[in-house]
Amino acid sequence: MARHLITSAIPYINGIKHLGNLVGSQLPADLYARYLRARGHEVLFLCATDEHGTPAELAAAKAGKPVAEYCAEMWEVQAKLADGFRLSFDHFGRSSSTQNHKLTQHFAGVLADQGLIREVSETQMYSKADGRYLPDRYIEGTCPNCGFDSARGDQCDNCTKQLDPVDLINPHSTISGSTDLEMRETKHLYLRQSEMKDQLEEWIDTREGWPVLTTSIAKKWLNDGDGLQDRGITRDLDWGVPVQRGDEPWPGMEGKVFYVWFDAPIEYIACSQEWVEAGKGDDWARWWRTDKGADDVRYTQFMGKDNVPFHTLSFPVTILGSGEPWKLVDYIKSFNYLNYDGGQFSTSRGRGVFMDQALEILPADYWRWWLLSHAPESSDSEFTWENFQISVNKDLADVLGNFASRVTKFCRSKFSEAVPEAGTYGPDEDRLIAALTDKLREYEQHMETIEVRKAAAALRAAWVLGNEYLQEVAPWTTFKTDPDKAAAQIRLALNLIRLYAVVSAPFIPDASKQLLDAMQTDDRNWPDDVPSALAALPAGHAFAVPEVTFRKITDDERAEWQERFAGVRE
Ligand code: 2FM
Ligand code: ZN
Repeated sequence: MARHLITSAIPYINGIKHLGNLVGSQLPADLYARYLRARGHEVLFLCATDEHGTPAELAAAKAGKPVAEYCAEMWEVQAKLADGFRLSFDHFGRSSSTQNHKLTQHFAGVLADQGLIREVSETQMYSKADGRYLPDRYIEGTCPNCGFDSARGDQCDNCTKQLDPVDLINPHSTISGSTDLEMRETKHLYLRQSEMKDQLEEWIDTREGWPVLTTSIAKKWLNDGDGLQDRGITRDLDWGVPVQRGDEPWPGMEGKVFYVWFDAPIEYIACSQEWVEAGKGDDWARWWRTDKGADDVRYTQFMGKDNVPFHTLSFPVTILGSGEPWKLVDYIKSFNYLNYDGGQFSTSRGRGVFMDQALEILPADYWRWWLLSHAPESSDSEFTWENFQISVNKDLADVLGNFASRVTKFCRSKFSEAVPEAGTYGPDEDRLIAALTDKLREYEQHMETIEVRKAAAALRAAWVLGNEYLQEVAPWTTFKTDPDKAAAQIRLALNLIRLYAVVSAPFIPDASKQLLDAMQTDDRNWPDDVPSALAALPAGHAFAVPEVTFRKITDDERAEWQERFAGVRE
């Protein structure tokens, strides 16, 4: 039994996330958290909303709401959807919490004490019509690199080049559209990441077994061009964490806030304080402070590949640079992108399936299974309705659901709604038990190393073994000549339903619960020893035939959904 801290990248507050976002961090993090809990480990699984920065301000303006009110409402929406997808966070926090304000200001203070923050005078775009500076997404123009005409102030979405607002050609304000802009001198704080390059490099080089995707992105940023760049960590915005040096004002920084990417990862820590404040735990420090026992914790982060630089470089600079005994991440699991039906998911164009829409058409487990079994691990992957239909109909309905339904119905009709007593196991059962043991150990191995697709494949293979066994021993035929033998076969198969429910729970928690309810047991003990796990439901134990566990997706539905989600969402 170990202690595991797990965080998922915290989703921006501005709107409902699509399935590509979900499978890139929250969902695999949930899979891992559920698995570790099922194996008896102590887990703290945290996520939150990322509420600062221009995305929040702009979305609130579009919704015609004060930004604080907008964020509070959207937090509710996101929390409800997280629940709908059965994301088992121990706490779903908010980066705008007072805990995060305080902790962010604390880190800025200690980093300054360590000499890792410098003040820089720079020119920024100022809009006279709007009476304000225009950072990041408040300004758009033509990309000097590729000519794309809607490049944002911080990045070109077309060629992905990182930009500065002053680089844009023909810039305009995205608030008023005004082109009456001028460059004004202003002061900002920069985090001296370059000072930490050697220390970071050594840390990254000594991480064992990290995914190639994670280390290759980290190394690229460490060594690209002139090496690790210092980064501006303040912005001229109203909404955010006010720039302070700990509890003290920061002369010259009045009216400025910290950059969203400075405070967002600090929320991972603040979230554990919110968890305590909410009365769900009593000690956050034993998870986060190595002087308070967090040395025993294994900390795993989940995120999409675009977030990797911030988690391998910027946030570790904050942690290491503070000189304080904070827990550093032990393992970063990163994901490629999920594409949608021949193109990309697009939040701005509403292309693809969004979390709320997904739950309107099918229960969470259908999506969880498809998304996790097709997680974009070694490369980008693609959602197509054809593939979704095939996976659901085959893996979930034909293989798993049908097994449970056939076995329970047969038992009810030939014996009773209780585990039959007669007969003994023979070579067929021994063979099944041996094969199943191998498959389960393989499944566990992949779950330990967070190889999500391989874990899904091993689980599916374990379901298939049960079906093959049933096909081979054919209790419906055996029953005619040797009813005692058929009874033993069915006793084993009923126990297999419980075993499947237990090991499948991290992927499909609702179906797992439905099957355990039908088997009238809450014995969720992991099958460390398969023969004893297959004796968990003793002869005479009552059960009920479950309702349909997974239904099939029809061709008509598939066509309708394909059409419905191709277009533009308001
Ligand atoms: O990419 C995103 O959705 C960011 N909001 C992730 C932030 S993760 C962390 F650093 F907080
Ligand atoms: Zn460009």
